[in-house]
Formats: sequence, structure tokens, C-alpha cells
Amino acid sequence: MSEIAKLQIGENTYEFPLVKGTEDEVAIDVKTLRGATGGVITIDPGFKNTGSCQSAITFLNGEEGVLRYRGYSIEELAEKADFLEVAYLLIFGELPTQEQLDKFYNDILDNAIVDDDIKKIIDAFPKNSHPMGILSSLTSALTAFNPSSVNVDSEEDMYNAIVKIMGKFPVLVAWTMRKVKGLPLNYGSRKIGYVENVMKMMFEKPNEDYEINPIVRDALDKLLILHADHEQNCSTSTVRIVGSSHAGLFASISAGISALWGPLHGGANQAVLEMLEAIKADGGDTKKYMGKAKDKEDPFRLMGFGHRVYKNFDPRAKIIKVAADEVLDDLGVEDPVLDIAKGLEQEALSDEYFVKRKLYPNVDFYSGIIYRAMDIPVEMFTVMFALGRLPGWIAQWREMRLRKEPIGRPRQVYTGENYRPFVKINKR
Ligand code: SDX
Repeated sequence: MSEIAKLQIGENTYEFPLVKGTEDEVAIDVKTLRGATGGVITIDPGFKNTGSCQSAITFLNGEEGVLRYRGYSIEELAEKADFLEVAYLLIFGELPTQEQLDKFYNDILDNAIVDDDIKKIIDAFPKNSHPMGILSSLTSALTAFNPSSVNVDSEEDMYNAIVKIMGKFPVLVAWTMRKVKGLPLNYGSRKIGYVENVMKMMFEKPNEDYEINPIVRDALDKLLILHADHEQNCSTSTVRIVGSSHAGLFASISAGISALWGPLHGGANQAVLEMLEAIKADGGDTKKYMGKAKDKEDPFRLMGFGHRVYKNFDPRAKIIKVAADEVLDDLGVEDPVLDIAKGLEQEALSDEYFVKRKLYPNVDFYSGIIYRAMDIPVEMFTVMFALGRLPGWIAQWREMRLRKEPIGRPRQVYTGENYRPFVKINKR
């Protein structure tokens, strides 16, 4: 393939270099386009054909259903690694030695306490607040309590900010759920692991010695790994663009949480369960809901289906579907919505509308069924997604800052009024 792209505008031909990645992806480098052409820019709503950066963190091939973190397949990592190990891999680029992992975790534990005044902020929220709103606010509030973690430039300062949020975020996640459930706010322990601490802080009852259920622990660990990163999705792009203004790591993560909240993105896992419950309440009539999903006049979409990049199975959905069967079976949980979900999937996979548009189950389609079996409230599902995605957001923010990337500031094509003189109000 030639190393350049040629663009013809009117009588003029312009040449732009091609950028080729390590997986043979090719991009046209248009950074000189506007200057070379006297003002012509590209436009691509939703950035469906536009790369925002070069990145060495996650590779996915949507046509083939491939997902790798730093070159390791999601299938192997979900099977053989644990979440903190994967977090280290995503953030620092290599699987850690035991010594490196131990130091990382100890540094995280040293930062796993939050300022007690955070409790006053939690108290101020109405009991029925959506947990994503609580989490986004508390994460932003961390900036107020940790001002030194705002505009960090050195790798050492970045590392300190990273272990701070890796330590404090699980506390905020757990306290968000305890606020929703009306339980006292508690802490973890230095004697147990990262995921075990999440479980202890979320599920421990004040009047009992909490025991870790290994089935739940393994399932939660796997779910967090599967959610850990996904290249330049909506919330990660948000973290990168907010971080590009040097607003700091906590503020960037808080912005990412808000972007993830949307039902077209991470909020879909909550929307899937609500959809499945609605279908169950409606007598399990999946055909009716398939018809609604295909009806252009009906705003209803089959939540948990379709993906901007995957035009084949989302490899994460495949793993989660198997895990859902295993976890519910191991926990002895019968959940009729799992059968409804499987029925919907089977119908969609043989329905021309879905096949033609290459709409397959995505990461959100089955995950909520497992969270519910773990007694996690449905409005907390997207918070769990955020807990998993945290190391990915951190890794992408760190890569952007270390590469000293410019502040993100897209252009536009103006389509409003041309110049017109001001008219006094008594003349309008
Ligand atoms: C995540 O980007 C990431 O990597 C995200 C994520 C991550 O890990 O960060 O993978 C996590 O966000 C997963 C996606 C969760 N969202 C949902 O499950 C919500 C339901 N899905 C859709 O809203 C939709 O599929 C999107 C938002 C996920 C993708 O939308 P696109 O790429 O903008 O595609 P589109 O809306 O242009 O749809 C193309 C066609 C349209 O029909 P036509 O106009 O061509 O006739 O497919 C149709 C759409 O109407 N379509 C659906 C559908 N999804 C797309 N029709 C019915 N049900 C659906 N779910």
C-alpha cells in the first residue's frame, strides 16, 4: 500500500501521509489538511470513521470479535488473570511480577481511606438518588480533598494520583450502594484482596462476620476484567478530552462516569434488566418486543444489542453468557429473565433486521443477570461497570498525558445565520 493518500479538491490535489498501526490498521493523517487547503476540514458525526489518537493499550477488531489488552486476549485474561493484575497491565503496559503487584496493592491500600467529610456529602443526597450521580459527584469531590492530585506532570505525581483513586474509588462505589440500601458506611481490610474488599464494603452487614463467597468473588473479578477497557469508547474519549485540558485525573474520571451513565453506553446494563422485566411482566412476549425494536416509529430499542464497533459477537458477551449460567447454577438462583434473554438472542440471530444490521448481544446484555444474582440493586449496575472501567480510564488518561497530547478542540461547519446587524427591542 502506498504511504500517502491523495485528495482532489477542485483543480488541486493534496497528499497526506498514511499512519499504519501494529495490527495493520491504516489512517490518513490529516493534521495539515486545513492549512494546506485554505480552510477545508473533515466532518464525521459520532466519529464513526475518525481516530482521535494512536494508542498502545487495547486492540479490538469488531468484524472478527477480537479484544486484547496490551496484546493479551480477553479470553485468556478472564480465565487466568485477576482484576488487579489486569489493572496493572492496562496502566503500566506489562503483566506485573509478584513483587510489583504487591507494591502496587500496598500503595493502593495506603490510599484506601477517604476524608470523613465525604460522608456529609453522601448524607446530603436524597435516598432515591441515582448511584451514578452520587458516584460522579463524590469522584469529583475527591479533587477538593486531594488538591495535589489535580494538575500532575511528573510520572511520580501521576503514580500517586493513580494509587489514590484506585484506593478510594472502591470505597465510593461501596458507600454509594450502602447509601441506596440504607446501610452504614464501612471500610475494607488490609488482610484481603482488592475484589474481596469491594465485596466486604458492599455486602457486609453490621451484625455479622462477613464471609467471602468464592463463587461471587470469581464472577465479580471476571466481570471487572471484562469491563476494564475498550479503546476509544464514549466515556474513555470523555476522560481523554477532559484530561487533555490538564483538569486532573479525578475530574477526568468523574466526567467519564457521567458519560458512561447514558443508556446508549454503560447505562444499557440497567436498561437491559428493566427491559427483560417489562417483557416478563408482559407475559414473556419476546416477539412483540422484537417488533417494537424494528419499528422506526417506536423509540424502543433492544437494549444490550448492537455496537458501534462489533459487527460480530462482542467477545465479552460470549464469556458473560457462559458465566451467567455457571454463577446462577452455583448460587442456586433461578432467574426467569435469563431464559427471556436467551430467547431474545435466538430470535434476533435469525431475524433479517438484526442480521442485516449486524446487531449482536453486547457486554451489557447478560451482565446485569449476574449482578442481580449477587444481590446488587439494578440501579447499581452501571456503577459496577465504572468500577471495572476505572483502570482503563486511568491507562488512557496516563497515555495521553505522558505523550503530552494537545488539548482536544474539534472544529465545526457553521450552518447558522450570516452577519446581520443588531435590532433594538422596540423595532423587532
Ligand atoms: C457499550 O463503544 C464501546 O466500546 C462501548 C462499550 C464499552 O465497553 O465501552 O462496548 C459499552 O456502550 C455497549 C453498548 C450498550 N448500548 C446498548 O446496548 C444500547 C442499544 N444499542 C444501540 O443504541 C446501538 O446499537 C449503539 C448505540 C450501541 C450503537 O449505535 P450506532 O453504532 O450509532 O449504530 P446506529 O444507532 O447508527 O444503528 C445502526 C442501525 C440503525 O437502524 P437503521 O437506521 O440503519 O435502519 O441499527 C439499528 C439502528 O436503528 N439499531 C438497533 C439497535 N442498535 C442499532 N435497532 C434496534 N435495537 C438496537 N439495540
